[in-house]
Parts: sequence; structure tokens; C-alpha cells
Amino acid sequence: MRLLITGGCGFIGSAFVRLALARGAEVTNLDKLTYAGNPKNLAEVEGDPAYRFVHGDIADADAVRAAIGDGADAVVNLAAESHVDRSILAPAEFPRTDVVGTTVLLHEARTAGIERFVQVSTDEVYGSIESGSFTETDRLAPSSPYSASKAGGDLQALAWHHTFGMSVVVTRGSNTFGPRQYPEKLIPLFVTNALDGQPVPVYGDGMQVRDWISVDDHCTGIWTALERGEPGAIYNIGGGYEATNLDITRRILDLTGRDESLIEHVADRPGHDRRYSLDSSRLRALGWAPTAAFADALVATVGWYRDRRDWWEPIKSGEYRRYYEAQYGRGSASS
Ligand code: NAD
Ligand code: TYD
Repeated sequence: MRLLITGGCGFIGSAFVRLALARGAEVTNLDKLTYAGNPKNLAEVEGDPAYRFVHGDIADADAVRAAIGDGADAVVNLAAESHVDRSILAPAEFPRTDVVGTTVLLHEARTAGIERFVQVSTDEVYGSIESGSFTETDRLAPSSPYSASKAGGDLQALAWHHTFGMSVVVTRGSNTFGPRQYPEKLIPLFVTNALDGQPVPVYGDGMQVRDWISVDDHCTGIWTALERGEPGAIYNIGGGYEATNLDITRRILDLTGRDESLIEHVADRPGHDRRYSLDSSRLRALGWAPTAAFADALVATVGWYRDRRDWWEPIKSGEYRRYYEAQYGRGSASS
């Protein structure tokens, strides 16, 4: 199978590129290398003859055509602006990549005769749920500029199925964690701050609930949807491990040998969704199931960040410091 994967230098994208190569696919990775795109994430596949990198923007039709080259069997779109807090600080890039970019990619894929298109989306398009779990037929009610942009991308992708009969599948994954996640998201931010003995900024009361999934389980879910998903269908991909942010924080402090004195309750995120929870039975019916136990995957993740300061210390400088100052009102906690 020849795959065009976008956003392959990011957190989930790089894990998905590795999975696709391991499963025998030929991979072209189209990535703009934004602040979140890191070629080091794919250092070990660079010499692989089945792997090709194209530096470019999914919103640029010429770049997409260059990446498609003489064809592909499927596109898996993981390229996105992906962080809620940045979408609140500086929203403009979000619809540009997540809606317009997705639209350009769909159009170029169809023009090139590529039938299959997997749009990698998020549970955040459903908004917040007090009890029970979201199913794929629930209405879209995104709360943040990020999730509203992702919802726009989902709707474009589904319209390509409805209007043109393209074999589109949309996946909606839950909060994902593991190695190589940019240290702006909860788990890698708190792990790296804690390793450095710096405060961990908990928004509001910290009782918000997220449904956590390991990056490897998220990727096998996307793979299952790619191979076996019904055209036009949406598939939730939830890990099923629900915990409050304070629970996660305490586990991280414990695993890094720190105590709760590092917890700093800071102003809540505007429009903060209280709880996410996914019902993934539709994907499970295709034979997928998450395999990682949350506690084991968190231990492995903390171990990775402990061993790989060479990966995250250079990130926590430059642009990151400016972001941290704007978001948290003080200098970067590390390096
Ligand atoms: P990430 O921010 O780590 O990586 C995004 C990648 O996309 C980077 O390599 C970046 O350079 C690239 N990119 C951004 N804009 C681009 C553009 N215009 N053209 C080409 N490349 C571009 O993101 P992630 O956490 O790996 O998320 C990947 C996908 O999964 C996103 O679509 C995101 O919405 C979705 N998702 C993420 C999570 C999560 O918890 N991280 C959960 C559910 C769904
Ligand atoms: P995040 O990792 O940004 O993912 P999402 O917003 O997509 O769920 O945040 C996960 C949860 O952690 C969310 O409820 C917000 C909270 N959070 C904090 O309390 N402090 C922080 O510094 C960050 C980044 C997140």
C-alpha cells in the first residue's frame, strides 16, 4: 500500500509513520515543520527506501501535488494545529490548516484519483459530556477555536464522501500520550517541569476529566479504520481510561519523585470542557481494542522523557519560551 501521510513529523504522525512502515506500506510524509514538527521524531526511518519526506503545507496545492507524485492508495491526514491553548492565544492558523488545508488535500487527492482518505480528528468536536460517553451519531458542539476548526475539517471530509462518493473515513481519538509529544500538552508539560523540579500549572480546580489513550493504541485504531472502515463512517478511538487532571498530576509527581508542593492552581482555561468520554464500540466491532494499561504506559512515557532530555531541552527554549510566557505569565520552567 502506498500512503500519503501528512503531519508525520508530529507526535501521533511520527508513530503512525513507523507503524505503517512496519506493516509494509510505502510512505510519503508531507509536513510543514511548524513548531510542533520535528524531523528527529523520524530519525530512524530516514534511510528506509520505503520512506520519502516532502517539506510542504497541506494548504498549498502545489506542495500536495508534489507529495502525491505518481499516486497513492490512500491519504491519512494527521497534519493540524493541535493545541487548544494556542488556538485561544492565536486562532488564525487553526482554520487555515485544519479546515482549508484539509479541503485542499481532499480536492488534490480526488483529482489525482486517490479513493481512500482518512481524516484524523478528535473527540473534542463533540464538546463536553457530564455523564455517559459520546457515540459517533452525537451532534457536534465544539467549544474551542481548535475543536471548531477540527469539526470544520471533519465536515469537509464527510462532504467529499457525500458529494463525490470518495471513500472517506473520519477517526475521533481521545487524549493521547506517549513519547515525542510536544511539551505544551498536559502530560509532557508536567513530566518535563516535574523532572526539573518546576511548578506544574493546574487549570482551575483540576477536576476536569479526560479519556486517555496511548499513542500506539491510537495508531492501531487509525490503521484499523484505514483498512476496514466503512466509506463515509466515523470511528471513535478512546482508550477508556478516564481520570481527572489532578489524578494524572499526582501520578506524574509520584513517578518523578516530587511532591504536591509543585502543584500550582492557575486561572482556568476559557471555555474549558469539563469531561470527555468516548464509546468506541463501532471501531471495536472491526476488531480493534486498546492494549496498553494506562499505568504501564505512563511509567514508560515518564521514563522516555527522563532519558531523552536531548529531545525536549532544545524545544524548551526559543519559540517555546515566548509561548510559555504568553500562556503562563512567566519564563519557561526548564533549560
Ligand atoms: P502535533 O502538533 O504533534 O503535530 C502536528 C504535525 O502537523 C507537525 O508535524 C506539524 O509540522 C504538521 N503540520 C501542521 N500544520 C501543517 C500544515 N499546514 N501542512 C503540513 N503539515 C502541518 O499533533 P498531534 O498531537 O500529533 O496530532 C495529530 C493529529 O491527531 C491532529 O489532527 C490532531 O487534531 C489529532 N488528535 C490529537 C490528539 C492528541 O491528544 N494529541 C487527540 C486526538 C486527535
Ligand atoms: P491538553 O493536554 O491541552 O489536552 P486537551 O485540551 O486537548 O484535553 O489538556 C488536557 C487537560 O489538562 C485539560 O483539561 C486542560 C488541562 N491542563 C492543565 O490543567 N494545565 C496545563 O498547563 C495544560 C497544558 C492542560
